[in-house]
Amino acid sequence: MASQNVEHCDVIVLGAGAAGLMCAIEAAKHGKSVVVLELADEIGKKILISGGGRCNFTNILCKPENFISENPHFAKSALARYQPKDFIALLEKHQIKYHEKTLGQLFCDGSAREIVTMLEAECAAVGVSIIVNARVQKVERNESFKINLTIDGRPHSYSAKSLVVATGGLSIPKMGATGFGYDLARQFGLKIVECRPALVPLTFNEEDHYNWSDLTGVSTEVIASLASTKTAKNAKPRFREKMLITHRGLSGPAILQISSYWKQGSAITVDLVPDKKPTELLMQKISGRDVPAVSHAFRDVLPHRLADRWLNLYAPERFTNQGLEEMERSIHHWQITPEGTEGYEKAEVTAGGVSTDAFDAKTMQAKSVPGLFFIGEVVDVTGHLGGFNFQWAWASGYCAGQAV
Ligand code: FDA
Repeated sequence: MASQNVEHCDVIVLGAGAAGLMCAIEAAKHGKSVVVLELADEIGKKILISGGGRCNFTNILCKPENFISENPHFAKSALARYQPKDFIALLEKHQIKYHEKTLGQLFCDGSAREIVTMLEAECAAVGVSIIVNARVQKVERNESFKINLTIDGRPHSYSAKSLVVATGGLSIPKMGATGFGYDLARQFGLKIVECRPALVPLTFNEEDHYNWSDLTGVSTEVIASLASTKTAKNAKPRFREKMLITHRGLSGPAILQISSYWKQGSAITVDLVPDKKPTELLMQKISGRDVPAVSHAFRDVLPHRLADRWLNLYAPERFTNQGLEEMERSIHHWQITPEGTEGYEKAEVTAGGVSTDAFDAKTMQAKSVPGLFFIGEVVDVTGHLGGFNFQWAWASGYCAGQAV
């Protein structure tokens, strides 16, 4: 191979997504020369498709409890140092209009493109160099990190004292998601917490598919929780939001949220009528307890097709108090054991990732490899649905940017 140019800089950031760009901006503000290497032909692709094209860029109710990790305390420091109000201030500086949709979730009034343009402008203002179509081939570490890569197919090399890995997770492979960050972590001896698709629709097992899949499109407010909370380190996750029945299984925000905690083979519990007691009035009556009366009571609190199906499947033999109580109990505790998930093709994020044990929580620097940093989704910190994943990307990027 022809001899390659080696360009020197202070910081190399791998990945021009939310975390990488934020880190690059902060590092350059502190006087560092920064090069961002992006595999794709465009920066911030996930930002562009996020929030239905409007980017749910943060959540004003952000708390450490909104994050899942083997170490639930790890994210606290970064989240405290860079808060939703800090990102909002950046948006306001760039006169980007936004609104709260629901539950503290902030979206752009216009389009997600405004966020990418803003980050690009911030990078340009502090002299960050961004290279797209950069395919890293080898990472070596002696006194500094040396990266061999091709740019638009041509060989090139960079060296830097600090290397920041911000290559994201495995979700949406067709957008170019790779396991590169995990491979690099392994190369440097860092532990990986097993990855799994998260914020992802769950699929029906055979029996549930038979019973429910023709109700595609039916949606109702539910509380979704884990049938057993033994495996969850965070306190009992419960999500009161909409659930949607699809041809393949269950989706909607309540299901996406609980999917991040769900483990293969376990069951989830869905309260289909939170706070409601559909059989209460019937129990007070002695006469008139028949199928039409019970159907009426259930149709009052559920979408009609769902109410009718529930009665078809679970109506007691006789409408005694005991029979009605049993039916009421079961509709508050619908237990289903999903066959699986719709996988990384449909997952909004990847749960698991590079173990937080490896890092200093204030700086995101690997304790055993000075100069090596991991930020954003590649790390074992996964936010709930609602702008928390971007908040983690901004916060972890900001902290690393201060420390490189
Ligand atoms: P991100 O994935 O954004 O960036 C990683 C970058 O690294 C990419 O540009 C990638 O091309 C690049 N890369 C990969 N391998 C590389 C390599 N070998 N060399 C160089 N570069 C490489 N979150 C939220 O809070 N609100 C929301 O509204 C949404 N909406 C949403 C919708 C959809 C459809 C998805 C799939 C995801 C969301 N998310 C979300 C999640 C959010 O997009 C995600 O958590 C962040 O983008 C993570 O930011 P990172 O910078 O860590 O990774």
